[in-house]
Amino acid sequence: MEVIIQPDAESAGLLAARIVASVIRDKPHAVVGFPTGSTPIPFYAHLVRMHREEGLDFSRITTFNLDEFVGLPHDHPASYHAYMDKHLIRHVNVARDRVHIPDGMAADIPSYCRKYEDDIRTAGGIDIQILGIGPDGHIGFNEPTSSLGSRTRIKTLTRQTRRDNAVEFGSEDKVPFHVLTMGVGTILDSRMILLLAFGAKKAEIVARTVEGPVAALVPASALQLHPQTVFLLDEPAAAGLSKIDYYRYVYEHKPDWQKY
Ligand code: PGA
Repeated sequence: MEVIIQPDAESAGLLAARIVASVIRDKPHAVVGFPTGSTPIPFYAHLVRMHREEGLDFSRITTFNLDEFVGLPHDHPASYHAYMDKHLIRHVNVARDRVHIPDGMAADIPSYCRKYEDDIRTAGGIDIQILGIGPDGHIGFNEPTSSLGSRTRIKTLTRQTRRDNAVEFGSEDKVPFHVLTMGVGTILDSRMILLLAFGAKKAEIVARTVEGPVAALVPASALQLHPQTVFLLDEPAAAGLSKIDYYRYVYEHKPDWQKY
């Protein structure tokens, strides 16, 4: 695991975008796993800017999103289809038929989820997966006690996660109980993982994820088993890490060829 601490969310978002851009430049047919939520907004803004100003070409990539609410039409403003359109898709030259976002309106959810897994495999697997993290340690919507080997499936949101999402829906009672999400096992199959966490509210869960035991109670802790995961944090989110001096020291002494 690599822990990179940046002064603020803006500079961390820029570094995340630079890492994803270098993956796409090296491999124009890259398969990219995208997240939603408030954390990646600066990251998307930089990807859009790089497309406009630096000609970053999305035309051959394939994308897979982590999750979506069950029962929400794609044009619902709180849907992750709408989120992705607003923050990325409409601004760049990605081919719409290679954009995959779980369909919360699927009639047969188990077979739809199996097909989502098949589609990831057929595309060649995810080259780089970007993640946020919930205050309870969820990645995607893999809530605490999710199997660390889980695949794409339906999950029930915790009361707290429904509360956390109330703003987008206008009120808590409008937040769906169910979501479709890639599993922890699906995420771990990605070749590279970039987890973004910003703000003091994430400090405790970041410390448990990076330095605590691997446990289904903290699904993100499964990333300790992954060979190429980068935690990209701002200062407040890194504040609870006991080895913080070591992470800074490692980053300062990174060989040039390893720098992003
Ligand atoms: P946030 O959500 O980026 O809005 O904090 C993260 C998550 O729940 O995965």
